[in-house]
Amino acid sequence: MRILVLGGDGYLGWPTALHLSRRGHEVAVVDNFVRRQYDFEMGVDSLVPIAHLQHRVRVWEEVSGLRVEAFVGDLTDHTFVERVLDATAPEAVVHFAEQRSAPYSMIDRAHATYTQVNNVVGTLNLLYAIAERDPQIHLVKLGTMGEYGTPNIDIEEGFIEITHKGRTDVLPYPKQPGSFYHLSKVHDSHNIQFACRIWGLRATDLNQGVVYGQETDETTMHADLATRFDYDGVFGTVLNRFCVQAVVGHPLTVYGQGGQTRGMLDIRDTLACVELALLHPAAEGEFRVFNQFTESFSVAQMADMVAEAYPGEVRIEHVEDPRVEKEEHYYRAAHTKLLDLGLVPHLLEPATIKGLLDVADRHRGRVDPAAIAPTVQWRKTASRLTTAGGPGA
Ligand SMILES: NC(=O)c1ccc[n+]([C@@H]2O[C@H](COP(=O)([O-])OP(=O)(O)OC[C@H]3O[C@@H](n4cnc5c(N)ncnc54)[C@H](O)[C@@H]3O)[C@@H](O)[C@H]2O)c1
Repeated sequence: MRILVLGGDGYLGWPTALHLSRRGHEVAVVDNFVRRQYDFEMGVDSLVPIAHLQHRVRVWEEVSGLRVEAFVGDLTDHTFVERVLDATAPEAVVHFAEQRSAPYSMIDRAHATYTQVNNVVGTLNLLYAIAERDPQIHLVKLGTMGEYGTPNIDIEEGFIEITHKGRTDVLPYPKQPGSFYHLSKVHDSHNIQFACRIWGLRATDLNQGVVYGQETDETTMHADLATRFDYDGVFGTVLNRFCVQAVVGHPLTVYGQGGQTRGMLDIRDTLACVELALLHPAAEGEFRVFNQFTESFSVAQMADMVAEAYPGEVRIEHVEDPRVEKEEHYYRAAHTKLLDLGLVPHLLEPATIKGLLDVADRHRGRVDPAAIAPTVQWRKTASRLTTAGGPGA
């Protein structure tokens, strides 16, 4: 299959591109390197050093004999999106290319509007380009479980049957997102569903849980193929952060009571899920939603698991929750559609956490302790990024 991976320089996009390339697909990647720019803005860096995209692509060809073509440009520029679709004529587009941090979107007005414009306009440009060129192209779009929030009833996969005043319909599951970033994903979902309805596009919205892990079968083939590993208070995801905190002797920072429960998955399962969605495309005009996670854990449970797996001493500290979220709540979310397509999950076992602790330990010299604390406060309309300093920080 000819597959275009948007956001192919990112944490998930790069390993997905390699995985698909190795599985025999013809893969091209697109990125504008804005993720690297956020690091410059915040004064932080990926824990694991990452090579430039052009170098990574060269190394991949040397190691595997396979070519991945790289296109550099911005999805908010519609002429660029159109040119890339014309040059690659993809059968499927995997869209990872968005600003993906909830805290980043909550820094202040400028970061909120940037996030929503970048994400919503990029996706709209893509929808138009697909509809005008080839509506048969299957769009596989990364959404998030955070679109649903934490309702006091079971979360379904995208849709819920509702009986109201004696009449019944299947409707989009209600969304209660917890940040302007998560809201951008909800807006995307609505736009994609609408485009499927009016233009007959085919799309899969992958409502993904929080990803952990850093190594995949392909990225470990050469040091220069490594993907990024974020541990800072703005972009770091919870389990990756806890592992780095344990290794450098920093207390594990549990926000509030730690009863916040989220769907989680191993990075290797992200790759497998995307491939399954590609191999079993949505029908013409169909907008389908898969909940892409394998297990749910509370933040406190994850801290306990890391403390148990780490051979040294670990302290767990409950810090004031910078976010506005329920600290204890009901959480049960359906996630059967990818299992039905054949997903065999990597579950979170002590060996997985030990592997992550090893990655963190190998690069412990690169950890900046100043980057660890959360800096963005949901209750304020503007927060200061203390790691960055200087005007505008
Ligand atoms: N990492 C997670 O735990 C997680 C969880 C749920 C959903 N997701 C979703 O998966 C996707 C990928 O996440 P990630 O962790 O790999 O993020 P990432 O920031 O590492 O990767 C995204 C890539 O897209 C690029 N990009 C952003 N805007 C762009 C634009 N306008 N034009 C071109 N390129 C652009 C960035 O430079 C970056 O390389 C995101 O859509 C995210 O919302 C991630």
